[in-house]
Amino acid sequence: NGRLDAPLTLALSKGRIFEETLPLLAEAGIEVTENPENSRKLIIPTSDPGLRLIIVRASDVPTYVQYGAADLGIAGKDVLIEHSAEHPGGLYQPIDLNIAKCRLCVAVPTGFDYQKAVHQGARLRVATKYVTAAREHFAAKGMHVDLIKLYGSMELAPLVGLADAIVDLVSSGGTLRANNLVAVEDIMHISSRLVVNQAALKTRGDRLQPLLDAFQRASAPRMA
Ligand code: PRP
Repeated sequence: NGRLDAPLTLALSKGRIFEETLPLLAEAGIEVTENPENSRKLIIPTSDPGLRLIIVRASDVPTYVQYGAADLGIAGKDVLIEHSAEHPGGLYQPIDLNIAKCRLCVAVPTGFDYQKAVHQGARLRVATKYVTAAREHFAAKGMHVDLIKLYGSMELAPLVGLADAIVDLVSSGGTLRANNLVAVEDIMHISSRLVVNQAALKTRGDRLQPLLDAFQRASAPRMA
């Protein structure tokens, strides 16, 4: 059976998640010499013939894993929340890798009195890629908002009158500052998780388990 002999496939996105995954793979004795930022290759071999990486859009990682095209994947909690709203179940999320950390925030233009608007019960227009997380957040606050789905560059929306506020990821805060926006509410802490295809766990568990163990070791908080 070719499928059973095939290398394990790990789906992840390039950029921060790829960079911060390398030390976790190193913990399992696996090295990756090709960098997807430099090569345009979407299938990246590793020093372990039994493991290859595929480079996909961050929001596509859960899809590759759910359909079994990848045995496992690495995706942010933000992406997983939006995915599971549309495709409940299906994905096993065994490990918080504690990488690619950031915050999901509500942000508004500097000078906009968000608390006052909330207090007055204003119906705000909020632009975001993270509609599920945003909907839950505002519903929990009892706020009525009109959500506008965007696919990127959310910071622009309040600057050109598309929205009053945005819900977006904030890491250094540099993007908000550069666009005269300020975070006014933290929705949740975000980090990246390992997700595993449920069938692969059953049929290829003997090969997956050592890798899961290594990820678990590498991502566990260390003693000082
Ligand atoms: C994220 C986020 C912000 C930026 C925040 O975008 O959407 O735009 O990073 O980071 P900062 O606080 O350090 O400036 P990302 O670069 O992940 O790309 P995306 O726009 O494709 O989501």
